Amino acid sequence: MKKIMIINGPNLNLLGKRETNIYGSLTFMEFLDTVVKKYPDVELEHFQSNIEGELIDKLQDVGFSYDGIVLNAAAYTHTSVGIGDAVKAITTPVVEVHISNTFSREEFRHQSYISPNAKGVILGFGLQSYELAIESFI
Ligand code: DQA
Repeated sequence: MKKIMIINGPNLNLLGKRETNIYGSLTFMEFLDTVVKKYPDVELEHFQSNIEGELIDKLQDVGFSYDGIVLNAAAYTHTSVGIGDAVKAITTPVVEVHISNTFSREEFRHQSYISPNAKGVILGFGLQSYELAIESFI
């Protein structure tokens, strides 16, 4: 059974009530419920933190043993050399995801410290971006 960890960064705990015109009205837990049912042969785990160091700790924790990591580092995508370095340091492949198409938004969202070391990048498909990332590992 493949082990996949979904790591969500800052403010993604507010999905469902945060800028619903951009991020939709489903909570992440509601979404995750349907995904877990859709992939019964995958061991899916989810971790969310608003704290940069906790995201790095989790990447280090799972990054040498899991089969895949789906990472939405949210705003830290555009600022965090530390998270970028962690993605580079670990051996588990990381797929970077974003709910919105960051390239159709403000210029500061066009920069990513994750992308250079990610296996791939999926963005702009709403929450389906996560599903496409999971599919890429199975
Ligand atoms: C996001 C895009 C980021 O620019 C933003 O800071 C987020 C969410 C997305 O999933 O579309 O918090 O990562």
